[in-house]
Amino acid sequence: MERVIGAVSQVNGMAELENIRISVLGKKGELTAILKQMGTLSAEERPVIGALANDVRGKIEAELESASARVASAEMAARLEAERVDVTLPGAALQTGRRHPMQIVLDDVIKIFLGMGFSVAEGPEVETTYYCFDALNTGPDHPARDPQDTFYFDDETILRTQTSSVQIRVMEKEKPPIRIISPGRTYRKDEIDATHSAHFHQIEGLAVDKGITMGDLKGALNTMMKGLYGSDVKLRFRPHHFPYTEPSAEVDLQCFACHGKGCPMCKYEGWIEMLGSGMVHPAVLDRCGIDSSVYSGFAFGVGIERLTLMRYKINDLRLLYENDMRFLRQF
Ligand code: DAH
Repeated sequence: MERVIGAVSQVNGMAELENIRISVLGKKGELTAILKQMGTLSAEERPVIGALANDVRGKIEAELESASARVASAEMAARLEAERVDVTLPGAALQTGRRHPMQIVLDDVIKIFLGMGFSVAEGPEVETTYYCFDALNTGPDHPARDPQDTFYFDDETILRTQTSSVQIRVMEKEKPPIRIISPGRTYRKDEIDATHSAHFHQIEGLAVDKGITMGDLKGALNTMMKGLYGSDVKLRFRPHHFPYTEPSAEVDLQCFACHGKGCPMCKYEGWIEMLGSGMVHPAVLDRCGIDSSVYSGFAFGVGIERLTLMRYKINDLRLLYENDMRFLRQF
C-alpha cells in the first residue's frame, strides 16, 4: 500500500495514473489477485483479511481520486499557459476591395448622364451585322466590316465592334423622347499594344426628340468632360465622317497638362482626340420608324479606356487589364 500510494503521489499524467489503477485494482491487478484468494483462507482469517483488504482498497481509491484531481488541474494550467494569446500583438489587416479605375470612371459618367435625364440601356455583345453595320448606314462593302478587323461567327453574326448597335435596338423599341447611354464591351481584331486591345469598352450616347441640335450635343459632352476632368477643360469639335451621323464631329480635349501649348502628354499637339459624335443621320432614324422630318437626335461613342487613361494619366492601356494589385491599389 505504501508503495502504491508513493507511486501515485509522484504521477503527473493522466495516462500514467490510469496504468497504476489498472495494475492494482484492475481485473488482473495486485489487490484483485489478493481478494481472489480469499476463498482459500480459513473461516477465522477471512473476516480479518477481508476487512484489511477493503481498507487498503478504500485508501488507494481515495489516493487515486485526489491524484486525478491534482493532475487534471496541472494539465489545464499547462494548456492555458501554452495557448496564451498576446492581445497586444497587432491584428492581421483585412484588405478591402475597391473599384477598378475603369469602373470608377464609368460610374462617374453614368452619374453625370443620369443627372441630365438619361437612363442606361444595354445590348448584346454577340450582335448581327444588321444592328452593328447595315442599320447604321454601313453597307456590305464598308471597310469596317472586313474580317481582318471584325470577329465573325458566321456571315451575319459578329462580336460587336461598337456600342452604336444599341442605338438601333433602342430606337426600334422606344419612341422619342429618347435619352440613353449604353456602356459595354466591344471587340476588334487589333494587335495588343499600349493604345490598342482586341477587347475594349465603349459608352454610346443617344438623344432623340423634337428640336435636338448640335448645341445639345456640345452641351452634353461639355457637361460630361467637365464632370470628369474639372470645370476648366476645353473641348474642340472637329469635322469628321461617320456613316450614321450627319454632320459628324470628332471631339478633342485640350491637353490639361500643357493647356494647349504642346507637351509629351498630347504629343505636342495641344489637343487629345477623345471621341466620335454627330447628329443622327435621317436615314438611320427613318429605318427605325422615327420620322426624321419631325425628330432629330445626337449621338456619340467614347472609349472607356481612353477616358480612364486621361483621368489618371496612365500611359499604357495594358495596365488596365493585367489586374496587378500594386497598380489597382492606387485607386
Ligand atoms: N462608333 C464610333 C467608334 O466606334 C464612335 C461613334 C461616332 C459613335 C459617332 C457614335 C457617333 O454614336 O455618332 O469609333
